[in-house]
Amino acid sequence: MRVQKIRHNLPDEQATITFGAELAAQLIQRYRGRAVVFLAGQLGAGKTTLVRGLLAGLGHSGAVKSPTYTLLEPYSLGDHEVYHFDLYRVNDPQELEFVGFDEIVDGPGMKMFEWAEKAADWLPAPDVSIALEVNTQSHPVSRDVVVVFD
Ligand SMILES: Nc1ncnc2c1ncn2[C@@H]1O[C@H](COP(=O)(O)OP(=O)(O)O)[C@@H](O)[C@H]1O
Ligand SMILES: [Mg+2]
Repeated sequence: MRVQKIRHNLPDEQATITFGAELAAQLIQRYRGRAVVFLAGQLGAGKTTLVRGLLAGLGHSGAVKSPTYTLLEPYSLGDHEVYHFDLYRVNDPQELEFVGFDEIVDGPGMKMFEWAEKAADWLPAPDVSIALEVNTQSHPVSRDVVVVFD
């Protein structure tokens, strides 16, 4: 598939949520819902907010917990599975093994990784790379997002 790069300004939290829902539709269209997605950006950039929007777009109505301590929060939504990883605190590949990482990565579903850079050696190459950045030039402060589809 040809590489495609998209850049957007997200003026507020709701825009990040909406963007996440649009991403869900894109992942279904382009990858049949089976994709490895890296979410880069500093703490507070909006990575978890984007996943919340993606889940809402797939019909999830419950809470979305940040997987900071659990490493993984899985969701099953009709035809689609979403695996939300946050690897900020991961130290050892065994910790990923314990949450069923190998089966998940080889199986169907959207695998969303916050802090993939903490485990770069153990992860497959992403199908989609997303970078979120705080934009302090706007008033109020907003976010910029760059998406690269492979
Ligand atoms: N487009 C946006 N503009 C301004 N604030 C945003 C935007 N998107 C998200 N936020 C806010 O930024 C914070 C991001 O938190 P979170 O999604 O947990 O970040 P991360 O997972 O990257 O650490 C939240 O307080 C959220 O309301
Ligand atoms: Mg987060």
